[in-house]
Amino acid sequence: MVDTIRTIRLITKWGANMALGRRRPVVAVFSMTHYCNFYCPMCPFGDPDKEGQIRLAKTSDLTTQQWKTVFDKVSKYCVWCIIEGGEPTSRPDFMELIEYLHSIKMPITLITNCSLLHTIDLTNLRKYIQFVTCSIDSTYEEPYCKVRGVSPHMFGRVMDNLRLLTTHEVPHYFNSVITKFNTQEFIDQTYFDRAKDLGASAISLTFVEDRSDVEYSLLPDREAMVDVCRSVLDYMKKPGSLRMLIPSEYFQQIIEHGRTLFDECGVWKSIFVNGNGTVIVPCWKYNSPENTHSLLEKSIDEIWDAPEWDIARTCHDCKVLGCIWTSSQPIQTIARSYMRGMSKVIGQYRPDLQEVT
Ligand SMILES: C[S@@+](CC[C@H](N)C(=O)[O-])C[C@H]1O[C@@H](n2cnc3c(N)ncnc32)[C@H](O)[C@@H]1O
Repeated sequence: MVDTIRTIRLITKWGANMALGRRRPVVAVFSMTHYCNFYCPMCPFGDPDKEGQIRLAKTSDLTTQQWKTVFDKVSKYCVWCIIEGGEPTSRPDFMELIEYLHSIKMPITLITNCSLLHTIDLTNLRKYIQFVTCSIDSTYEEPYCKVRGVSPHMFGRVMDNLRLLTTHEVPHYFNSVITKFNTQEFIDQTYFDRAKDLGASAISLTFVEDRSDVEYSLLPDREAMVDVCRSVLDYMKKPGSLRMLIPSEYFQQIIEHGRTLFDECGVWKSIFVNGNGTVIVPCWKYNSPENTHSLLEKSIDEIWDAPEWDIARTCHDCKVLGCIWTSSQPIQTIARSYMRGMSKVIGQYRPDLQEVT
């Protein structure tokens, strides 16, 4: 259950800071580990050197106690948190950390590739989190394996685990990253029917934001992007369609301009904590020692007063990344769209909790 009093108190504090010209984060993203068991070519955590990743995770990932210290700091500002990584469910202390977040009244969205959910007590998980975001880029084996860099066996495991979420009545929705490998099922709209059959109660979509550290692009060509956007907009109008968590303006702007538009990047509204407890100001694209602050050593006020936040005032580098576009919309638009979608997800599994929205 979301603590409404806590949420109102934090939003009031956020508004008071804004009135004094002090920007502060309102959502937290915890990248719980440097390790991921997948090989997604669009993601830096897809690095095929898994031994190196495990070494890095062993030496650099925050310990259980350090994460709890970070959670305590962040919970004084943020109304909600997103747990991701790396693959967050690969941490042996995953449940302990989730339980801790719940004990300090932090609502949780877990983003996972779903490959390890069979190793987790889902009855318990359901008690502590609000939603699971399942990263299901494709509902078909071949494109899924291409986008995620995994074997058909792994695809089968993930599909089985999605059924486990449904059986255990864990509220969940799907997120798909659209690349040149998986456009077809959005154009013919089969993704949505198949997602519904797999128990998804809402959908979030983003086109892939190409990495700057690799030579290749995974973005579909302009024509295919327009076809996808038109088809999604058409699907959104159909009666009984799954709720789309990304507003229609995202798709309309891509049709018209080939990218999203926003006045000012809203990255400062969330605090993105890396697996080693650092925060890069304003974001990962400006990774340098001067822009990197340890949340174990500094306060959020100190980090949010850093002059490098000014970079985000004019940066429009992220062209199609759904989360950056969403955070760059007015706060009321974000809240309205997110809560409308979420009420549908909650309603499906927990009619008793629907008052949250
Ligand atoms: C980095 S992953 C970490 C959590 C978990 N391992 C997973 O796969 O869901 C978090 C989300 O970022 C998305 N993602 C990764 N690279 C991306 C990119 N280049 N553009 C857009 N989304 C991306 C993934 O698909 C996933 O939904």
